[in-house]
Amino acid sequence: MAKRADRFVIIGAGRVGTAVAHLLEKGGETVAAVASRSDESLQKAQRYVKAGLFTLDVVKAAKSGNVILITTPDDLIEDTCLALSSGGALKKGDRVIHMSGALGLDVLSSAEELGAKTACVHPLQTFADVKGAIKRLPGSVFAVTARDEEMSRWADDLVRKLGGEPVPLAEEHKVLYHIGAVVACNLLVALEHAAELAYQEIGMEESKALKALMPLIEGTVENLKRLGTSGALTGPVARGDIGVLRRHLEFLEREERKNLLRVYVALSLYALDLAEANLSRTRSEEMERLLRKYL
Ligand SMILES: NC(=O)c1ccc[n+]([C@@H]2O[C@H](COP(=O)([O-])OP(=O)(O)OC[C@H]3O[C@@H](n4cnc5c(N)ncnc54)[C@H](OP(=O)(O)O)[C@@H]3O)[C@@H](O)[C@H]2O)c1
Repeated sequence: MAKRADRFVIIGAGRVGTAVAHLLEKGGETVAAVASRSDESLQKAQRYVKAGLFTLDVVKAAKSGNVILITTPDDLIEDTCLALSSGGALKKGDRVIHMSGALGLDVLSSAEELGAKTACVHPLQTFADVKGAIKRLPGSVFAVTARDEEMSRWADDLVRKLGGEPVPLAEEHKVLYHIGAVVACNLLVALEHAAELAYQEIGMEESKALKALMPLIEGTVENLKRLGTSGALTGPVARGDIGVLRRHLEFLEREERKNLLRVYVALSLYALDLAEANLSRTRSEEMERLLRKYL
């Protein structure tokens, strides 16, 4: 029997959903429908996607295809899937996918109960807008979580169609996987904000503080690419400069900058872990004792 052609439906015309629809069409795939919550997001999506149908009716949209990509905010994926299942939009053999890094397949269980196949396909990337997503989805690593071999292979093919590189991710590892992504991306931004605020305090204009830090940030990313984490680490901990470390810690404590002190100590302990191979045992133990006093 001939295989059914994939007819994609996007539920949630935001940054990721719109960019995925655009890239699928660009790759010759059929996007049968795009559904969203507001006319505004549908109108915006029409600038990037042809699709046969743009609608606020998620059930009607899902009925027009057999591969449903739910790209709503994470908190709405389960309810959206439930609305499709109870609305008669799903049938045996359909594929229902979400793209959240934080959630497992359980949020799609209502579709599985109807005989649909499910997967999560998460791009390990950050997208601030549709244009950025169209540019960065290709070339990104995608974590693929699926229930069986056939669905894994199909999801890997989907990732390749989008220009990405699939890597398998077991469902039980999703939480730690997502924590890794949050640390590498969102918390890095928060960390740069802490540095930005410190520079504003010493008199730099708001618009100039981050700009001043940017060559340092970019140099660090370059070193990370070339040398990995241990090779890229510089600064007092890497050098074993315990005097500087002590001055920083005493200052933060004296000034009662509790949050920055906590972050500084916790991250310095990770830095020490990286630097240990290049420090004498006595020096690294001395630094660890000092840091732990401020925990
Ligand atoms: N952005 C990233 O960096 C990134 C990276 C990796 C994975 N992801 C994942 O990709 C998924 C989508 O994220 P995003 O950043 O694209 O979110 P987003 O830009 O906020 O888009 C979500 C879209 O869903 C629509 N929506 C909300 N409730 C809906 C409902 N009940 N029915 C139908 N549509 C609804 C919204 O419509 P309105 O605009 O009309 O309200 C919006 O267009 C999430 O699972 C997220 O975890 C995002």
